[in-house]
Amino acid sequence: MEQISKDKLPRHIAIIMDGNGRWAEKRSLNRIAGHRTGIKKAKDVIRSCRELGVQVLTLYAFSTENWKRPEIEIKALMTLLKRFLRAEGKEMIQNNIRLNTIGNINDLPTDVAEVLKEVMLKSKNNTGMVLNAALSYSGRNDIIQAVKKIAGHVQQGKITATQINEEVFSRYLFTSGLPDPDLLIRTSGELRISNFLLWQMAYTEIYVTDVLWPDFTKKDLIDAIKDYQRRERRFGLTQHQIKTGSSST
Ligand code: IPE
Ligand code: IPE
Ligand code: MG
Repeated sequence: MEQISKDKLPRHIAIIMDGNGRWAEKRSLNRIAGHRTGIKKAKDVIRSCRELGVQVLTLYAFSTENWKRPEIEIKALMTLLKRFLRAEGKEMIQNNIRLNTIGNINDLPTDVAEVLKEVMLKSKNNTGMVLNAALSYSGRNDIIQAVKKIAGHVQQGKITATQINEEVFSRYLFTSGLPDPDLLIRTSGELRISNFLLWQMAYTEIYVTDVLWPDFTKKDLIDAIKDYQRRERRFGLTQHQIKTGSSST
């Protein structure tokens, strides 16, 4: 395996797994065939990230906007998701992976939601990698639901408006307790974030590859991580401050 430096490993990798449809169209297959191969690639990436020692892997599997796709495609995606959870659930539990979800899980068909909840429950004490599945997820909705909860807590007197700060607010998001993504990988070349983790990606490093998701390999993952490791994350500081470790705070 190719060498990557372990000390600058991204703690949290988020992936927009895009391009299943285009992959299928290129082969004159139906879009569902692309999703099927895409799921296999998701399994590979989960395994690779766990082996590398990544702490959190967030996979954007289904957006709120994806509900507007043809019903037949949605149905097929839900069936594939259920099958994936059935087959991989056991392995996740054995491999010390904790399954977490972000998004409106209650929008999912009940049978899918049930398998999801079952795997989450069975893996809840696992201490290895967190597999964070974004399902029926929308970044704007994430913020709105957080605002609603916080407003409720202010009304009930649990917290005061002046106590609201970035750290407190983060705890009301779906990603509560998880670090922000260090690296975002988007496959298929699109230069947009498609309503993904809007708040959480304030300082995430973005890596876009033209590789279509069903063609994504471990080498592509390693390439993305290597690219990330060559970057200088400045968080608003000057290069000099980064190099000397001196900031005025
Ligand atoms: C990503 O692939 C999978 C989901 C959004 C569920 P797409 O289905 O968006 O593939 P393209 O963008 O049409 O190629
Ligand atoms: C983003 O891909 C959502 C997922 C990968 C699940 P889309 O294919 O839905 O994004 P757009 O429509 O190209 O922005
Ligand atoms: Mg797409």
